[in-house]
Order: sequence, then C-alpha cells, then structure tokens
Amino acid sequence: MLKIKVKLHKKFLLEAENILFEIAPSNWMLFSNRKTKDLVLEGIFANKKEADHEIMKFQKEFSGNLDDASISEIDKSWQNAYKFHFKPWKYKGFTFMPEWERSSSINNGDDINIFIDPGMAFGTGTHETTRLCAESLIDNYGKKSSSICDYNFLDIGCGSGILSILAHYLGFNQIHGIDNDENAIQNSLYNSSLNFNCSNIKFEKLCVHSMRKSTYNCIVANIQSDVLIKNASKLICLLKSNGILILSGILNYEAEDVSKAFNKVLDSFNFASKQNLSAKNEWCAIFYELI
Ligand SMILES: C[S@@+](CC[C@H](N)C(=O)[O-])C[C@H]1O[C@@H](n2cnc3c(N)ncnc32)[C@H](O)[C@@H]1O
Repeated sequence: MLKIKVKLHKKFLLEAENILFEIAPSNWMLFSNRKTKDLVLEGIFANKKEADHEIMKFQKEFSGNLDDASISEIDKSWQNAYKFHFKPWKYKGFTFMPEWERSSSINNGDDINIFIDPGMAFGTGTHETTRLCAESLIDNYGKKSSSICDYNFLDIGCGSGILSILAHYLGFNQIHGIDNDENAIQNSLYNSSLNFNCSNIKFEKLCVHSMRKSTYNCIVANIQSDVLIKNASKLICLLKSNGILILSGILNYEAEDVSKAFNKVLDSFNFASKQNLSAKNEWCAIFYELI
C-alpha cells in the first residue's frame, strides 16, 4: 500500500476542495496547516498503478501541478485506510459513530447513536457539506412535532445513507434515498441495517434528473453546485407546499449562482419562500421553506 503526499500552496484551497468533492468518493484527503494555511494533499492507494491513475485524474482538473508528490510504503491494510479519518461527532442529542467503535460507545440516556461504516461511499459527517445538512435537519425537526410522522423525505445523492438514517430517527414516515452510484446504494442499505430493521426507507439507484413525479415534505441534496443548478426546476417541483429544501455541496463563492438559479424558478412559479444560508469554512448550505 502506498501513501502519496503533495504540498500545495494555500491559494489552491478552493480549487482542490472542489475537485475532491466532485470526484468523491476518493482516497484523497486535504489537510491545511493551521498557521501557514499551506496544504498537503494525501492519498492512500493499493499500488503504483492505482496511485498514478488517481494522480492523473486529479491533475486533469487541477491548475497547479502534482509533480513533487512523495511516495512511501505503508503497512496498514488498504481496506481499512478510510477508517483513520472518521471520528465520532455529536449534535444536539445525536452521536454519529464509526461502526467499528460500537463496542466502546456509551448510551447517554435519550441520546441517539447513529452507526456508519462508509466504506468507499461519501458521508460520515466529517465533511462540512454533510454536517451542514445534518445540523439543519436536527435544528428543524429535532423537537418532534406530531405532524412529522406523516411527512416524507427525499435524500438526493444519499452516499452512505447517513442523512436518510438521521431522517428515520427524526421521525419521518417514508424516506427515499437516491444515488447514481450503485456502491452508494449498497452502502446505504448496509448502514441502515447497522442501525435498525425497518421498511420505511427505500434506497434506489437513480440520477436526480430521472426522478419521478412524487412530492416530498423535506428534500436534502448534497451534490455539487452545477448539478443543483441544472436541476433547480426539478427540485422545486418535487417539494410539497410548506416543504423544506436543503441544498449543500456549495462552495461559498458558488452560493450566489445557486441562489439566483433557485430564486428564478421560485419566482416563475410564484412561490414565496423563507431562505437562510449557513456556512462552515469554505462550504455553505442554502435552506428554503415554501410558505
Ligand atoms: C457529497 S456526496 C453526499 C453523500 C451524503 N448525502 C452526505 O451528505 O454525506 C454526493 C453523492 O451524490 C451522488 N451523486 C452525484 N451526482 C448525482 C446525480 N446526478 N444523481 C444522483 N446522485 C448523484 C454521488 O454518487 C455521491 O454519493
């Protein structure tokens, strides 16, 4: 197993973050030095052939260069490399835990533990884009209202299934998770089985633009900005009246374009909405509630 490390100038932060998000899931991680803000791009790959292929894939999108990459052998098993980056995290009564730390988890009274083994799928909450969605869902639905048990939920780009699993614990009635990647669907099914045995979640391999004409009380879409913009009209049409839409996967500098595209569609349908933007580091999420 090989570890590839490349130092990058801090000016590449947004570009590198964007590439990693678009090629996710991948075996790259980006670290930033707290003082200098300089970056290290680090990847763990099974062998030289795979490392070269992944470097080429990243380089194709990247305006800097990865020529100075250092390569070292590491002896940990490749299958478990992703486990180094996922640490438990908590928000208002929910703890998101790696499945492999289940035996050391403590049950704190009413707190709910959500267990995830992301494998190669995206979605542990370590990434700001997932965290923004999870926190927004908990803020809006955490104090259960009696009506939520009639609500349905759509998770677009479900990845590991983390947000659908959270939606189940929040009390949604019917939950639909879609992803265009079959591995994500298999991983979502596996993760829901780690948490409960229930039939109110359906995971389906589907691209967002092929969504059928159902409508939902709450939709969360953590995909990249260009996909959100292209599907703005579709997403608004999938919302029930008074529905909530949470858009994530948006770099701060893309927020204006995303917001313009969605506002244009809302205006064209004459829909009034409450809107709110929340941010973590260089990422933000936009929240819409139809009124
Ligand atoms: C950033 S991950 C989000 C995973 C999870 N929902 C979370 O918040 O952590 C984006 C997911 O969207 C999926 N995806 C990308 N484009 C898509 C599309 N056009 N239709 C459906 N899924 C898509 C990817 O396969 C990936 O699993």
